[in-house]
Amino acid sequence: MTDLKVVMMGLGYIGLPTAALIASRGIKVQGIDVNQSVVDTINEGKIHIVEPALDGLVKHVVERGLLKASTTVDTADVYLIAVPTPFKGDHEPDLKYVESATRMILPNLKSGDLFIIESTSPVGTTDKMAKIIFEERPELKGKINIAYCPERVLPGKVIYELEHNDRVIGGLDEQSTKAAQDFYRHFVKGELHATNAKTAEMCKLVENSSRDVSIAFANELSMICDKARINVWELIKLANKHPRVNILQPGTGVGGHCIAVDPWFIVSEFEKEAIIIRNAREINNYKTEWVIEKIKSTALQFELDNNKKPTIALMGMAFKPDIDDLRESPSLQVADTLLDEGKFDLLLVEPNLEESNKYDLTDYEAINEKADIVAYLVAHKEFRGFTTEAIELDFCGVRK
Ligand SMILES: NC(=O)c1ccc[n+]([C@@H]2O[C@H](COP(=O)([O-])OP(=O)(O)OC[C@H]3O[C@@H](n4cnc5c(N)ncnc54)[C@H](O)[C@@H]3O)[C@@H](O)[C@H]2O)c1
Repeated sequence: MTDLKVVMMGLGYIGLPTAALIASRGIKVQGIDVNQSVVDTINEGKIHIVEPALDGLVKHVVERGLLKASTTVDTADVYLIAVPTPFKGDHEPDLKYVESATRMILPNLKSGDLFIIESTSPVGTTDKMAKIIFEERPELKGKINIAYCPERVLPGKVIYELEHNDRVIGGLDEQSTKAAQDFYRHFVKGELHATNAKTAEMCKLVENSSRDVSIAFANELSMICDKARINVWELIKLANKHPRVNILQPGTGVGGHCIAVDPWFIVSEFEKEAIIIRNAREINNYKTEWVIEKIKSTALQFELDNNKKPTIALMGMAFKPDIDDLRESPSLQVADTLLDEGKFDLLLVEPNLEESNKYDLTDYEAINEKADIVAYLVAHKEFRGFTTEAIELDFCGVRK
């Protein structure tokens, strides 16, 4: 038990589990969100997001008075920022949420406090927020600790990974790095690697860009192999028998709110230098358009051969296998494009969702009697044993 007080700005997929985990160590946490219904839900001991084991943890810490949510910030010793960092316009990072959260904290800051940004951020963001703080509160110069510490958790395993993953911690100076390390030791069992703020910011962006580039290679191969009439899944399996080759699996594109977004934070700032990173983003985006064209040309051929329009099943709406998260999912782009064209009879299938407020979903077990073309967009486990008489288009390797 410590008498440390923590404020967590933003109670979403990252902020809420982090706040709850810190509170579970007996530390008083005030969770701040600008969304009143999020605040009300949490104060009832409930959660507004899907994440295994989080509901029990939140209930536990709220009932013990260790986590309390609010829309207004109280005084604390440690302030953490986990608000969204989307991009705007031509893939420019949008820092308005980080800046507004920083400004909400500003009046409460006092000597000795620790200010940490966890939101995925372009290089130099921590420095920018420090400038804002010291412009408004010049008397705090040299008296507070400011650091950047990115998140690298996997949705679905957030609680475990928050506790066990290694973390990279970069302060604006050595004392800040040390203060942040001391803080994370309260709840992180993984190693806490010290660096400076800029390197820590870039580290997060590079981790996701590295994944994006590797996936782009696999996606490019899938399009080359299609033209060359080579089975890409067999090819990758064979190439990976080489002891130093590890090619990833191709798919419908790249989705989610990290890998499809973060590389742009590098590209927008290092336009001339970030050639592979930009190309990878473009290849992965192009792969989704390629998938749409494949489905359309298969539908056209079906119509010519059978003199009737085919019914097309789109299998999997989530952005990756075995989750219900639709954010930035390439499957939605496929579905929306084909729906907008209005020329196709579509069945949308997502076994991880019972219902959707936007899409009319069909049970995958009913597909067999209804579909003429079955397009696998996401390799959900339910699709692995699926058998059908329909024409199959496997974009995710579920039938390999
Ligand atoms: N979700 C992930 O798996 C993941 C993984 C690694 C990094 N990240 C990064 O973590 C950050 C947060 O992502 P998330 O998925 O938790 O977002 P989220 O959208 O789930 O949650 C963000 C919350 O912040 C709130 N908010 C917005 N402005 C605020 C303000 N000024 N003060 C207080 N609250 C405010 C929103 O209402 C929302 O509830 C982003 O930078 C994201 O890129 C996310």
